[in-house]
Amino acid sequence: MRRIDCDVWMLRLDEIDEEQVAGLLAPEEQRHLRRLRNRGDRLRHAGGRSLLRAAVAERAGVEPTSIHVACRCVMCGSTEHGKPYLEERDEYMSIAHSSNLVLVALTEAAPVGVDVEKRDSSTEVDLIAGYIVVPDEPTPVGLTEFYRTWCRKEAVVKACGVGISIPLREVRVTAPNQEAALVSFPKLNAPVALCDIDLSTAHADYAAALAVLADGSLAPRLRDGTSLIRTLTRGGIS
Ligand SMILES: CC(C)(COP(=O)(O)OP(=O)(O)OC[C@H]1O[C@@H](n2cnc3c(N)ncnc32)[C@H](O)[C@@H]1OP(=O)(O)O)[C@@H](O)C(=O)NCCC(=O)NCCS
Repeated sequence: MRRIDCDVWMLRLDEIDEEQVAGLLAPEEQRHLRRLRNRGDRLRHAGGRSLLRAAVAERAGVEPTSIHVACRCVMCGSTEHGKPYLEERDEYMSIAHSSNLVLVALTEAAPVGVDVEKRDSSTEVDLIAGYIVVPDEPTPVGLTEFYRTWCRKEAVVKACGVGISIPLREVRVTAPNQEAALVSFPKLNAPVALCDIDLSTAHADYAAALAVLADGSLAPRLRDGTSLIRTLTRGGIS
């Protein structure tokens, strides 16, 4: 089976400074940042976009601000919102943030989707599991299984670019105690490689998953985005 390589960069938001990383962003991203009122939203957006730029720059040997990021909505065709992509580069990307963590997935293989969720202990799993699974699908039991299932499904819809405009119940994945795989998603006419991401024991209260629209076995490489950002904001990439 073909091996699909994918870098997954992880950044801890409590270890970066919004103003510092804003210097890695493009002018339109800085403008968007200024429009966000909530400090947490600003930090997550700045963290995700700066990590994306830093990770691409590291690979390509270019300045983070020189990278062109655009977006396009697969639902309505707008270029004002929708799945972001890298212009002028044969590389696919996806960003996810939750609470204190940001993940950026980068691969040359095919469109990619990543999701991360901090497990919220107040989640009433029994009540809301029905929103993400259909009755004949394995029902997640407990927080760990619920968030694992959620992340697997959201990674798939993010890889396709439809996001949660499609109910997650339409995406069927394997039981949470089995190896991650897509069972069915009738709207998608492409192979999907899916896996859980092990974020290490330091982040045991998060769940994360990765989906790539390709046939093969996924081999994500977890990389330290916090160190990368620190190095860059201390002075250049060269
Ligand atoms: C994409 C989506 C699933 C993200 O959900 P979330 O749990 O709030 O946020 P996450 O942290 O997982 O992901 C956010 C990132 O996903 C990316 N993203 C945005 N839209 C996306 C899409 N359609 N597909 C894939 N990724 C998308 C962005 O990079 C975003 O971060 P950024 O704006 O800071 O760069 C959700 O916002 C969504 O479904 N949006 C699409 C809705 C839609 O298509 N509506 C129809 C409009 S016509």
